[in-house]
Amino acid sequence: MKRLTVPRIRGRKVDGVTADPLVMLTAYTARQAQLLDAHCDLLLVGDSLGQVIYGLPSTVPVTMDMMANHAAAVVRGSYHAVVVVDMPFGAYEASPQLAFESAATLLKASGAAAVKLEGGEAMAETVAFLTQRGIPVMGHVGLTPQAVNMLGGYMARGRSDAEADKIVSDARTLDEAGAFAVVVEGVVEPIAIAVTEAIACPTIGIGASARCDGQVLVTEDMLGMFERVPRFVKKYENIAETIENTVKQYAAEVQDRSFPTAEQTYQPKG
Ligand code: KIV
Ligand code: NA
Repeated sequence: MKRLTVPRIRGRKVDGVTADPLVMLTAYTARQAQLLDAHCDLLLVGDSLGQVIYGLPSTVPVTMDMMANHAAAVVRGSYHAVVVVDMPFGAYEASPQLAFESAATLLKASGAAAVKLEGGEAMAETVAFLTQRGIPVMGHVGLTPQAVNMLGGYMARGRSDAEADKIVSDARTLDEAGAFAVVVEGVVEPIAIAVTEAIACPTIGIGASARCDGQVLVTEDMLGMFERVPRFVKKYENIAETIENTVKQYAAEVQDRSFPTAEQTYQPKG
């Protein structure tokens, strides 16, 4: 299987129609990437790894090194999906030049194909700067977690008319600036529809209804690694329970010396 490309992802939406919705999940490690790769069009090395892997309170403290290292692992573990790396907070907002340096660093360190950054109109110049210089950019509008300190929490966006209009115009600006896709997070369904109809490139929804051109979730969330997840997450599994039960059994077998058995034990030859 040959690796998909950014133009092929972009090309999945033709004249406003996406016949074949885009499948995206987060991946942070090589083995996780291996397991997801064949089933996904895109793997996102999300800065959600701050909470999921590092136990941080938000994505704000996530560093370039964290993103580069996990992105390299995900590229090593995959050969089919397009790997997109989140630009961490602080690495791109100040100027297009800073954004280019950071994006180039991430792509060179990892071999990933594209970066994702949060924000609308304020990032349009940066998106144009990067795309004109060879770096594909995925946008991210609506609930933008890096802005948690401005937003005051992770509630759904676009409930007021002003906010709704802003999200649609933000997405339109990113599309016009050259973004190849836009993540739409945590918005009411009419906004997801409006954005998807307003822009030429595909929308990828998370908590943004079924009316986007694709969907993304945090893999650990959909596998049921965490008890508490946002309402928009469907828990397809309860992996936390599986892990707990397995570890409980291991601990009991170590304590009653029923593990290891002869099968797991080396003996001298002859
Ligand atoms: O960091 C992340 O995982 C994301 C997705 C949930 C869109 O940005
Ligand atoms: Na993110």
